[in-house]
Amino acid sequence: MRARRPPSLTLRSTLAFAIVAMLAVAGAGMYLYETMKAAIMTRSDHAVLARLDHFRKLLHYDLTLDTLQSSPQLFENMLDSEDDIFIIGEPDKAPLILVNPLHAPLPPMPVVAAGQPLSAADLRSAIVNPDVPMRAATVEAMSGGRVVHLTAAHLAVKEMATLASFRNRILFAIALAFAFTAGLGYLLLRRGLRPLRRMAEHAAAITPARLDSRMDSSDTPVELQQLSDAYNGMLDRLADGYQRLTQFSADLAHEIRTPVGSLMGHCQVALRQPRSVDEYQVLLASNLEELERISRMVESILFLARADDAQAALNLQPLDLTDELQRVAGYFEGLAEERQMNLRTAGEGHLQADPLLLRRALSNLVANAIRYADEGSTIDIRVVAGDDSCRLEVDNQGPVLNDSALDKLFDRFYRGDASRHQRSDSNGLGLAIVAAIMQLHGGAVTVTQPVPGRICFSLVFAAQDNVRKA
Ligand SMILES: Nc1ncnc2c1ncn2[C@@H]1O[C@H](COP(=O)(O)OP(=O)(O)OP(=O)(O)O)[C@@H](O)[C@H]1O
Ligand SMILES: [Mg+2]
Repeated sequence: MRARRPPSLTLRSTLAFAIVAMLAVAGAGMYLYETMKAAIMTRSDHAVLARLDHFRKLLHYDLTLDTLQSSPQLFENMLDSEDDIFIIGEPDKAPLILVNPLHAPLPPMPVVAAGQPLSAADLRSAIVNPDVPMRAATVEAMSGGRVVHLTAAHLAVKEMATLASFRNRILFAIALAFAFTAGLGYLLLRRGLRPLRRMAEHAAAITPARLDSRMDSSDTPVELQQLSDAYNGMLDRLADGYQRLTQFSADLAHEIRTPVGSLMGHCQVALRQPRSVDEYQVLLASNLEELERISRMVESILFLARADDAQAALNLQPLDLTDELQRVAGYFEGLAEERQMNLRTAGEGHLQADPLLLRRALSNLVANAIRYADEGSTIDIRVVAGDDSCRLEVDNQGPVLNDSALDKLFDRFYRGDASRHQRSDSNGLGLAIVAAIMQLHGGAVTVTQPVPGRICFSLVFAAQDNVRKA
């Protein structure tokens, strides 16, 4: 089952921005709405209170109930609109004046005594159909020695209409904020993410033939700079690896072509005319020698390929280095004697290493020394156990190597001039194998020339806990 693709980053961020903007506008709108509602309601409360106060004074000083009774029309005209209610009458009698155009029912309310001041606390609320609030109050007044009750109320019909229109405007502003932020955010984000798209296009255009192309990160935003640098770094490493691989296959083809060509040449010459058994034997012996060299080369290349893939699992064992040196020296004794050379071992120590690989590395160094050192000289093989490392050194007297030759010694297929001309059994892979073995062990192989003509190879095992002092 295919996993559902998450929505695009642009869409998600745009929506998040738009929702935040919407919430901010809604919050501000709600605050303003509530403030405005409170202000409007206070104003309408004051109007009711002012009206009651005014008529209380009027009744007390000038107006008599009789005047009122004779011209009730006066009051109806004095009130602003249909939304105001005004009732005057003696307690427990039919009202003298009753203005209530909408016939709104009044809430029960206390009667403020004649001498008492009137305040907002004396107002009572009621909800008239369906959601119009009413504010009402009743006061007592004295008119010509008679007790009169005045009731005034206001229905907030206009106020509610104003607030409703204000609410609609707020809703419109919220919708506008959402649409505007979403639109603008989308455009800005798309613009901001352009370097990512450029990177994707760049990556899509990379082929083995175009590994040298790099991203230009000069106009990349800081957040993407790291990604772009890492990406360019990856391309550097890939290009380097690819270049080495190409070089290796070119070298390989070249190295195999020479012996195969020489084998074919020998066979073609031999087949041109009938040969004696002895001649065939010589030919076969020389071909076998050449084939053995090719076979050694193939085996070495396979070893290097496996080491490159880090497939070679190390079989680490504690080794006594004195024994190891003796074993290798014993193995090469005969060969050294042939060239009147002397093998000398020195030092002692312990090491955690793969015995077969260590012997192979050491043998490659000693074989080289016997092959390339001056005849009759001494080859020193020694253990130098330091505090935080352990070194195995192979030191011999031989040809003077210049710096550029020293740099190339560990390259695959590199052979010094002397060996290229003189020896057909040399492949130039021995030191590359030593380097690969040391890399597998987390160590390194180095070469120094303490004095011209003296060459010293060191196998350096770094980790101190590998070394157990005897
Ligand atoms: N001890 C040494 N003294 C002087 N030159 C050396 C010594 N060891 C190696 N070299 C030089 O380094 C070159 C590379 O050595 P390496 O062991 O990699 O290849 P090789 O000996 O030529 O071939 P192979 O080991 O594959 O049979 C040699 O051809 C030689 O010129
Ligand atoms: Mg060699």
